[in-house]
Amino acid sequence: FDAVDIIRSKRDGEELSDAQIDWVIEAYARGAAAGDGRSGAIADEQMSALAMAILLNGMSRREIARWTDAMVRSGTRMDWSGVARPTADKHSTGGVGDKITLPLAPTVAACGAAVPQLSGRGLGHTGGTLDKFESISGWRASLSAAEMLAVVQEAGAVVCAATDDLAPADKRLYALRDVTGTVESIPLIASSIMSKKIAEGTGALVLDVKVGSGAFMKDAENATELARTMVQLGTDAGVRTVALLTNMQTPLGLTVGNALEVRESVEVLAGGGPEDVVELTVTLAREMLAAAGLGETDPADALKDGSAMDVWRRMVMAQGGAPDAPLPSARETHTVLAPASGVLAQLDAYRVGVAAWRLGAGRARKEDTVQAGAGVEIHAKPGAHVAGGEPLLTLHTDEPQRFERALEALEGAYEIAPSNARPDLLPLIID
Ligand code: URA
Repeated sequence: FDAVDIIRSKRDGEELSDAQIDWVIEAYARGAAAGDGRSGAIADEQMSALAMAILLNGMSRREIARWTDAMVRSGTRMDWSGVARPTADKHSTGGVGDKITLPLAPTVAACGAAVPQLSGRGLGHTGGTLDKFESISGWRASLSAAEMLAVVQEAGAVVCAATDDLAPADKRLYALRDVTGTVESIPLIASSIMSKKIAEGTGALVLDVKVGSGAFMKDAENATELARTMVQLGTDAGVRTVALLTNMQTPLGLTVGNALEVRESVEVLAGGGPEDVVELTVTLAREMLAAAGLGETDPADALKDGSAMDVWRRMVMAQGGAPDAPLPSARETHTVLAPASGVLAQLDAYRVGVAAWRLGAGRARKEDTVQAGAGVEIHAKPGAHVAGGEPLLTLHTDEPQRFERALEALEGAYEIAPSNARPDLLPLIID
């Protein structure tokens, strides 16, 4: 095969054959193994041209399935057959204040499933699960495959970084897409996410596909297509896969930022916490348990009776973390007051996410560090009554010079309607 011929075919709207796809991914992964863009038969500039042709012309169902399978085969597929319990995992397409993995993984483990969850870090306005966990003193994200197995055996759940040999073709391709304007393609997003989840080896998978301003997919139509594509890929690979469309028009819960979100998650594990975080945790837990064949257990009980909290503590300690250590807090705060009395008609997820990022909770480049204590605390959710002059948001950062740009991001982020208004709000679980 020749890379230029393959790029031309996709550019001209033709379908790639299985053999062409296998060759492209294998050649590109070979360059990933060598650590540069040249030693494979496909250089980075050629792969970016092909990614752009795919973004513009799409892929057939067969092409997406083969592309995903080739990315799985570019590395190792993990094996949990040594674990006696059925395995179940969740993947969220990412959002603002999305700390659900933190209460969810221990809840599902407390109900009898094993949860092997390989997670990522935040980029741009969306947060990452590993960054949140890392605000716990001593907690380690990088584990060997043997250590992951030991944590699952000990606690029932592990949340950690993927090893380098898990879908290496995707690792290199995702970094390339990030800098070439080729992230926003349903075939490329679906194959990227699902190659990692299939390689992770989970038996059941629940996808939380976010819709709204804070999500990748801003409208329900595109989110539905992404969800259907991923469910098909998982099912074809033998993973019992279901997807929920959920609301990312406003942040989840009352906190956005790493340590702030850990604090809120611990409140949920203690049987309290914000209603939306509890509802989404319990809904996703039910789906995971049903997909794992454990549908008779009620995850809400595990939050009430302390068993999810017990798993949380074991899981944190098994990865070197100190569950009772005080969480870091930012040195400076700034309060945003409600400009008038009335009903909070909206609080925009994207703008709040950008504000938290600018306060230091997120990163602009993969190598940047994050501030554990930075972020935004939310005092009222859309639909609630607010009184003029009362706190609406509290901004947290170690560096007060960051407040100005965070406040700029929040311009137009919220709207207060007259007290008798009934804002038209999307439900938390859309479909
Ligand atoms: N997350 C991924 O892992 N891959 C994508 O392409 C987009 C989001």
